[in-house]
Amino acid sequence: MESLISDYVKKALSKKPDILTHTLRVVGYCKAIGRTEDADMDILISSAWLHDICWSKLDMSPENLAVHAEESAKLAKDVLNKMNMSDRMAEKIVSAISVHESLPDSPSIEAKILFEADHLDRIGAVGISKIFSSWGIKGGLDIINTKILPSMEEWFTTRKGFELAKEKIIFLNLFVDNYNKEIIEANKG
Ligand SMILES: [Fe+2]
Ligand SMILES: [Fe+2]
Repeated sequence: MESLISDYVKKALSKKPDILTHTLRVVGYCKAIGRTEDADMDILISSAWLHDICWSKLDMSPENLAVHAEESAKLAKDVLNKMNMSDRMAEKIVSAISVHESLPDSPSIEAKILFEADHLDRIGAVGISKIFSSWGIKGGLDIINTKILPSMEEWFTTRKGFELAKEKIIFLNLFVDNYNKEIIEANKG
């Protein structure tokens, strides 16, 4: 089933290479974390492949960003129905996708891992570059200072997820420290 879904996603996102490479990294993180947790790998990996699939149809805008988890869940449901996946499995996949931006109080283990994998990519070198290219230097730093640095340690609750995040957290803190130092040095003249 994975190759059927991955073939579909690669084709659907062929014109959105940034989203596709992000998806590939999220699938990789889900495999690494899922192996160490009691997760259903079929549900987890299918969710990872399809979690941002709505971008195959939508343009990136703040409005679409706000609803993209729900939109991806809806599209994933149609895709899985066409692939004759059982209702029980499709429901779990769709539910994990719909909460990948913001987890409910008691998420399934698959939803939790997908959330961690998606957020791991947000704090990596590529994720940080994307924030700056989308929001500019000032806007990017605001997002890092207000939305990422204060909450990033809370995003990772599985042992493997936290282990993978550790290096990225160190990197991001170092990046922000160096950035601030360079600005302070420059202002000293
Ligand atoms: Fe997403
Ligand atoms: Fe994502």
